[in-house]
Amino acid sequence: MLRENNKAGRAPTLAELFQADPERGRHWLFRFGPLLADLSRRHLDRHRLDSLLSASREAGLTEAVRRLFAGEVVNPTEGRPALHWAWRAPNAELSRIDPEHERDAVRQRMDEIAAAVRGGKWRGTGGGPISDVICLGIGGSELGPRLAVEALGPGDGPEIHFLANVDGGPIERLLATLDPATTLALITSKSFRTAETMLNAATVRGWLARAAPDERAAEQCLAITARPGHAVDWGIPERNVLPLWESVGGRYSLWSAAGLPVLIALGSVAFDALLAGAAEMDQHFRTESPERNLPILAGSLDAAQAALAVVPYDERLRLLPEYLQQLYMESLGKPAPEGRRWRAPVVFGTTGTRAQHTFFQALHQGELQAAVDFIGVIHADHGLAGHQRALLANLLGQARALALGGGRSELDRTFACPGDRPSNVLLLEALTPRALGALLAHYEHRVFVAATLAGVNPFDQLGVELGKRLAGELEPLLEGGEAPPGLEALLEAIRGA
Ligand code: F6P
Repeated sequence: MLRENNKAGRAPTLAELFQADPERGRHWLFRFGPLLADLSRRHLDRHRLDSLLSASREAGLTEAVRRLFAGEVVNPTEGRPALHWAWRAPNAELSRIDPEHERDAVRQRMDEIAAAVRGGKWRGTGGGPISDVICLGIGGSELGPRLAVEALGPGDGPEIHFLANVDGGPIERLLATLDPATTLALITSKSFRTAETMLNAATVRGWLARAAPDERAAEQCLAITARPGHAVDWGIPERNVLPLWESVGGRYSLWSAAGLPVLIALGSVAFDALLAGAAEMDQHFRTESPERNLPILAGSLDAAQAALAVVPYDERLRLLPEYLQQLYMESLGKPAPEGRRWRAPVVFGTTGTRAQHTFFQALHQGELQAAVDFIGVIHADHGLAGHQRALLANLLGQARALALGGGRSELDRTFACPGDRPSNVLLLEALTPRALGALLAHYEHRVFVAATLAGVNPFDQLGVELGKRLAGELEPLLEGGEAPPGLEALLEAIRGA
């Protein structure tokens, strides 16, 4: 209707959409268990919705979702299914696709380890209980567990520390504050070959050995890996090795044995609730009609977006932008099949209101074609009600300003905000494990939808290999040797400094 009325036949603006339907805010508000999603500030009307849904039909989305949850090969480059969802599915469902699965035995071992560490039964090399756990791992082997521990903690277990970067500074500073006799090292690496993780692990193991002979120090290391043989060769006792599945990518692995830091920090009740929240979202994604399906709607919109700013209005979620940067950009940043145009969205962000004082100027008046995910928590974890009101008011005000524009003088380009800039508002009733599980699973499925529309495989990451190889080749040249063409001057400058 609006399209027919406007002479240019252009898509209606957000202001026009709100004018045309005073109940728009209500019509595009969805509740999914512990999550509320307001999509009213997206350019969605009947016409756009029809075209998004017909694009998903053409891309075979229904069949793709069926194949994902049937455990069929949906990662063709590596010839694997993608079974991250299976770690949170009812046992019967997983047994249907893999009667031999070892998931529950692994989970039992995770529970035993977590209970022993939390309850003081796991003894450090000094004979006392564990006071600190250092989690080593990078990318998906760090971000999901760390996000969950930071968002849902502090727990009542030992202190959990994460070391991801190969930068020696944070390692040296952290180790200076800890006691090797009461510290446990948890090495998460699917490949057990990631150079940064292996160097960090060797440094931490050397430090643990200050308190005990090397063999005993190795007993204070746990490995979570798809290559148990590598971990055992490295010196970790077999009983301290937990498996990752080849069919679960690193950035999707929080729900599996990679979630052990969450269990150690928060206990099994919280971890179960995290899985349950994610499983509810799986169910929603699989069974809800496309028109009311959050991952389908939001993922279809993501696929057409040049950039996505992720702005959680809660400091406990400060790692969410980085977690989603990996989830989106490692899953979607790859070439589409020959002849198709595809540009994966750039994901960036930081917490609100801090983001408002960094990149929001460009969102309001610049040329950046970004959608924003405003993520808020209705009930805070503190008693400063005025602060919570201020936080939520900022979230709402920013979403409204981006959508409708305005400003001191709407005619003056210097002051005016043009508006018509899209955003999603995602609200959690409270930052509970269940709500976090649902939020993260909804993003996993959004990425799956966008990948299906683009025709890319969201479960491989072959583009990262070349850089890793070159770093390995160049490392010895920092000490000396013949520099490759083009790097002579830079290497000379570094060596001579
Ligand atoms: O960045 C590439 C990558 O392979 C990620 O996909 C992965 O999460 C990370 O490195 C760590 O890999 P691993 O768990 O094998 O150490």
